[in-house]
Amino acid sequence: MTPRQQSQMRGRLRVALFALAFSFANTALAREADFNRGWKFTWGDPSGAEQLAFDDLAWQTVRTPHDAAIAGPFDPDVDGHAAKLPWRGVGWYRKWLSLDRREEGSRVYLDFDGVMAAPKIYVNGQLAGSWDYGYTPFRIDITEHLRFGRANVVALRFNTRRMETRWYPGAGIYRKVKLVVSPPTHLAHGGTFVTTPEVAGDTATVVVTNEVANHLPIVSPLSVVVRLLAPDGSTVAESTRDLTIAPKSDAAAKHEFQLTGVQRWEVDAPSLYSAVTELRINGAVVDRRTTSFGVRSFEFTADDGFWLNGRRVELHGVNLHHDLGPLGGAFNRQAAERQLRIMQDMGVNAIRTSHNPPAAEFLDLCDQLGLLVWDELFDKWDATAGRVNGEPSFVAHLQRHASAFVRRDRNHPSVIVWSIGNEILNQPHDLEGKSRERVRTVRDAFLEHDTTRPVGLGCHIPQTAESDILADLDLTGWNYQRRYALFRKRFPETPIVYSESASTVSTRGFYELPLPSTKCDYSPENQVSAFELCAAPWADLPEVEFDRMREDRFVAGEFVWTGFDYLGEPTPFAAVARSSYFGICDLIGLPKDRFYLYRSVWRPEAATVHLAPHWNWPERIGKEVPVMVYTSGDSAELFLNGRSLGVRRKGEAPPRPHNLALGAAATASSHQEGAGPELLTATSTQRDSHWAADPGDKKAWVAIDLGDEQPIESVALQFPRESKYYGYQLQASDDGVAWRTIATKQASESPRWGGVNEAVHSLSVTSRWFRVAFQECLDGVGPGIVGFSVFASPYEVNYFRPTYNDRIRWNEVVYEPGLLEAVAYKDGRPIGKAAVRTAGPVKRILLEADRTELAADGEDVAFVTATAVDENGTPCPLADNALQFSLTGPCELAGADNGNPLSLDPFLDDRVPLFNGQAMIVVRALEGTAGQIQLRVESRGLPPQSIRLESNGS
Ligand code: GAL
Repeated sequence: MTPRQQSQMRGRLRVALFALAFSFANTALAREADFNRGWKFTWGDPSGAEQLAFDDLAWQTVRTPHDAAIAGPFDPDVDGHAAKLPWRGVGWYRKWLSLDRREEGSRVYLDFDGVMAAPKIYVNGQLAGSWDYGYTPFRIDITEHLRFGRANVVALRFNTRRMETRWYPGAGIYRKVKLVVSPPTHLAHGGTFVTTPEVAGDTATVVVTNEVANHLPIVSPLSVVVRLLAPDGSTVAESTRDLTIAPKSDAAAKHEFQLTGVQRWEVDAPSLYSAVTELRINGAVVDRRTTSFGVRSFEFTADDGFWLNGRRVELHGVNLHHDLGPLGGAFNRQAAERQLRIMQDMGVNAIRTSHNPPAAEFLDLCDQLGLLVWDELFDKWDATAGRVNGEPSFVAHLQRHASAFVRRDRNHPSVIVWSIGNEILNQPHDLEGKSRERVRTVRDAFLEHDTTRPVGLGCHIPQTAESDILADLDLTGWNYQRRYALFRKRFPETPIVYSESASTVSTRGFYELPLPSTKCDYSPENQVSAFELCAAPWADLPEVEFDRMREDRFVAGEFVWTGFDYLGEPTPFAAVARSSYFGICDLIGLPKDRFYLYRSVWRPEAATVHLAPHWNWPERIGKEVPVMVYTSGDSAELFLNGRSLGVRRKGEAPPRPHNLALGAAATASSHQEGAGPELLTATSTQRDSHWAADPGDKKAWVAIDLGDEQPIESVALQFPRESKYYGYQLQASDDGVAWRTIATKQASESPRWGGVNEAVHSLSVTSRWFRVAFQECLDGVGPGIVGFSVFASPYEVNYFRPTYNDRIRWNEVVYEPGLLEAVAYKDGRPIGKAAVRTAGPVKRILLEADRTELAADGEDVAFVTATAVDENGTPCPLADNALQFSLTGPCELAGADNGNPLSLDPFLDDRVPLFNGQAMIVVRALEGTAGQIQLRVESRGLPPQSIRLESNGS
C-alpha cells in the first residue's frame, strides 16, 4: 500500500471504529441527571484544587443551590450596599462524577443555571470552560476531559473579587446544575423554540422549531417528531419531519400546527400546553424534550397600554431582586413561590426581574401562576455585567449573554418584554454608555433569537428623549417621577411602561410620632416610619403613582420598587443597615401596611380592611395618635372602645390651616432686585417670585412680623432648591430685636440624589416675630426662600394630600388604651372590619407555619412565623424578646430573621430576637427521610412552645 492508501485506510478505519463506538451511544436515549448533591466547598484558593488527587476531605459538604456567603458573619464596618455579607472572594467546589464505560461516545455536558461569579470549570485537572456573568445560564461540554468507567472530578473556581454590584449578589453555585449525557447527535441546547404566530378566537397556529446538533463525522437518517399536549395532558397534534444534517454541524426542523378549541394563557387562568419533541435515529428515540408553552396574544400599544388576548390589562407589577431574604441568593422554588403568591394576593399580575435573569424555575412559576414578566438581562453594561475594565469587549459579551438568556427563556408565555438593561448612562461613559448604535446592537442580539417580544430598556434620564438614542427600541420603561413625559411627547408612537415606581420606604411595625414632616423625614433611629409617608428622595408615595397611572392611560402600568425588602441597598441608611426599606413586604415576607393599600387599589373587588398603627401607646394617653384605614371600601367608620369617631370617605382631606404669615410685614438683611422679602407674605405671591439675599450678604436673614403674639405650632419653609442645601436657624422674638433660636437645620449634601424643597418645623411657641437666619448654603445656592408659612396648628405638606384619596385617615384620634375598630363600607354596604387592641405583657410565642406538610427532598421549606402575644392572644407589637430555638426530626435550619434592616445577627443561628413583635424561622426538610419535624422555641420568662411539621417521602 502506498502511504496515501495507508492513510486513506486508516481514515476509513477510524470512521468505522467511530461509528461502532457511537452506535451504542448514538442510539441510547439522552439522559439528564440532577447534579446538585455532594459537592465539597471551601472559600480560598488552595493550589491544585482542580487536580484529581487533591484532598478535599476537610471541605464542607454542600448541596447546590448554595450561597457561600449567606451564613455571614455580617461586617458592621463595611457599608450596606451589598448587605455587609462576605460575598467577595475566591472559592472552590469539587464533585465526583462517574460515567459508565458504555456511555463512552456520548456528549456530556454540565448545565449551570447561574454561578456567582466568573467560574472556571475543570475536569480531572483540565480547564473545560468558563463563564463571565453571574446571572446567565451556561453549558460546559466536558466530554473530552472525561474518563468513562472511572471516577472523574469536576472542580469549579469562582471569583467575585472583581465584580461590581449595587445589591447583594450571593456567591458560589447559587442555582441548579444538571448533568446531560446525550448521544453525539442530539437536540441542541436551548434549541427548541415554540411560537404562536397567529391566535384568533379559539384557534392558533403553533410553530415548533428544534435545532439538532450533530457531532459525528457521519450522517444518519434523522427524524424529529413533535407532539402537542393540551393542558389536561391529552395529545392534540403530532407530526414527524425527516431531517438532513451535514457531518459535524447543526440543522433545524420546523413543525407547524393548527389548533382549535384552544385554551388561552391568561393571568387568571394560565393554561399551559406542552410540546414533546423526540429525535429519532433509524427510528429509535435518542433524545426527548418537553417544552411547556402557552397560547396567548399580546400587544403593547402606544396609546392604550398593554393588551393580553384582546383585553387591556394594566400592569400591576413589582420589581424583585433575586435574593430570598435569609435564604440569600440560593434559589429555592418554594420560597420563590411563597413570594409570588404573596404578591398575587396583593393584586400583582407582573414582575420585573430587576436587574438580571432570574433562576429558570422562577419563570416556570410565573407561567404556572399567571404572572407577566419583564425579563431583564443587565443592570449596567460595565463591571456589574462582568465587564471589568472593558474586558471582554462589548459586542462579544453582550451577544453571548443575550443568546444564553433568550434561548433559555423564550418559551415562557409569562415573558412579555426583553429588557436590555437598567438606567444606563448615555455615551461618552465608556464601558456602559449607551448610544443609538449600541442600543441597536443589543436589541439585534435579542432579535436574533426571538422576534415575538418587544425589546425595551429601563430608562431614567428624561433628556435622552431629546436625542435618538432610544429610537430603535420597541418600548421604553421609565423609572420614577413621570420621567416618561418628555419621551411621550417626542416619541408618541412608542409604548411606555413605568418600569420603576414608588421607591416608598418604611420599616415594618415602626410607628414614630410626630408623623414625618416630608417624604424625606426619616427617623434618627435609622428606621423609616411605618405610617407610609416616606419615599426615597428621587421617588414617591404609592398614591402619587396611582394618580399618574389613572391619568396616563397610555402607560402600560407600573412596577413598584420593590415587592419585598432585599439584601443590600438600604437607602436611606446605607452606612448602618444591611437590607432595604423599599419592600412592600419586609425581608421575611411579612406585609408592611402599604401592602393593604396596593391590595385595595389593585384588587377593588376583594374586601380589604386594614388598620394602623398598633394600639400600644402608653406614653400618649390623652394625646393624639393618627390612624390610617387601608380599604377597598369607599368609606369607613372608626370606633374607639365602642364610641364612634365618625364616618369618613376616601377623597375627604382636612381643610388647609390658615397661613398666618399671609399679609404679614416682612423684612430682610438684604435682597436682590425684584426679590424683596414682601413677596414672601404677599397674598398674591407667585411661586417663581421669591426673596433672595444679596450674594455679598454673609449674614443673611429674613423675618416676618405677625402683628401680634400668637401660639404657633408649625413653620413651613419652601426653598428654590432642595432644602438639604440650606443651613439656618429658625428664630423667634418678642420685640423684633432680640432673637432666640427655636430650631436649627444643618446644610447637607445628603441625600445624594434629589430631596424635597420644603422644610417643616413642628413647634410649640408663642411669638410675634419669626426669622430665618442663614448659616451655610451648599452647592452654589444663595440664601433665599420661596415660601414662609406660619400656622397655629400642625401643618401637613401638600405633597401628602393624595394620601387622603386611597386610604382613609384620622389624624386626631385621642389615644386611650383598648380596642380600635374600623368598619369599611362600599356603596353604603359594610364590606368588612379590622381591629387593633392594646396588648398586655408578652405571655406566649405563637408559632404559625405557612405549610405543615413538606416533601422530604432536601429543598422544601416551611416558613414559621413567631409572634409574641399577651394572655388574650393579642399580638404584642413592640415585643423584642430573644428567641432560642431547636429543631428535631429530618430537617435543618434554612434561615432565621426578623426583618429588621439593622439586624446583624447571622441568619443561620439558633437565636433570633423578635422585631416589632415578630420573627421568622425557615425550616428545610432533609432529603430521603420522612418523619415528624419539631421546632421548639424558648424565650426567657415564657413557656416553651413548639410546632410540628410532617416531612413526607416522595
Ligand atoms: C433605581 C434603580 C434601582 C434601585 C432604585 C432605588 O434608580 O434602577 O436599581 O436602585 O433606584 O430607588
